Amino acid sequence: MTNEELKNEIIRLKKEKNAVILGHYYQIDEIQALSDYVGDSLALAQEAQRTDAPIIVFCGVHFMAETAKILNPTRKVLLPDVEASCSLAESCTGEDLRRFKAEHPGHIVVSYVNCSAEVKAESDLICTSGNAEKLINALPADQKIIFAPDKNLGGYINRQTGREMVLWNGVCTVHDALEAESILKLKQQNPDAPVIAHPECNSAVLAVSEFIGSTKAMLNYVAKSEGKRFIVATESGILYEMRKNNPDKEFIAVPSGESCACTDCSYMKLNTLEKLYRCLRDEQPEIQLDAEMIERARRPIVRMLDMSRELGIIK
Ligand code: 13P
Ligand code: SF4
Repeated sequence: MTNEELKNEIIRLKKEKNAVILGHYYQIDEIQALSDYVGDSLALAQEAQRTDAPIIVFCGVHFMAETAKILNPTRKVLLPDVEASCSLAESCTGEDLRRFKAEHPGHIVVSYVNCSAEVKAESDLICTSGNAEKLINALPADQKIIFAPDKNLGGYINRQTGREMVLWNGVCTVHDALEAESILKLKQQNPDAPVIAHPECNSAVLAVSEFIGSTKAMLNYVAKSEGKRFIVATESGILYEMRKNNPDKEFIAVPSGESCACTDCSYMKLNTLEKLYRCLRDEQPEIQLDAEMIERARRPIVRMLDMSRELGIIK
């Protein structure tokens, strides 16, 4: 089938099966265009909780589809490519976290949503890059905290809040590979363009950035800014929404090193039109989690959503 035929079939099947397609900003442009909702991980978790569609096709990575299943267990949740993982989720297993907890008695665990259901089940609170700083600030000042699995996001929150959370040693391989040196060169060539960065970037990159925020926060920043040019230090997929919403503005993507200009997340980009079509047609691969795991992993996610509403971060 041609791409056009695939798109038509996806639209037809979606309607026929009353399915909803949730797409992350890092998906390929064509998938974002076909999605009913496009968002960052926090917005997509909310949408997954809210939808009454019997089938949720989650175009993102595995931990995001798991989160959708945990929040809406009676729905069928599909993921076009079940191999779409995440380096952060892979860096820490449930067993790893249990051992780390035993080494740090008296600590609660706050986990970044980029982790498996098993790690969520071992956590007291989940956060996303869109709410992490406010949620951590809302915890008692003397509360001892383990933060897993992203040491870059955790380090950034420590610096922002003055906390000394114990950090699990995981990174997003896409954001961690971005280099401050290449950014400084781009800044010299484009002195009018502020650097906007995702907090998964390493501390050297964050130190030379003018704005740090989640995918959604970056989109809001460029939409509101009077500036016309921006240096963007994050995954390439965000450029689709940025350019669509701001046709009069220019976005300069940061290369991830001299030898590679690639900021594609290889996991996110595993989902293709062909796989999305087959997934809708065959209703698989399906996310399966047992009821006990759903119950245990659900608690810290619901706590995150409740706290986010109380703090006015989400509606
Ligand atoms: P957001 O929470 O900003 O959507 O980020 C998810 C992610 O995987 C970033 O690499
Ligand atoms: Fe995981 Fe990084 Fe890919 Fe996001 S960009 S899904 S954090 S590997």
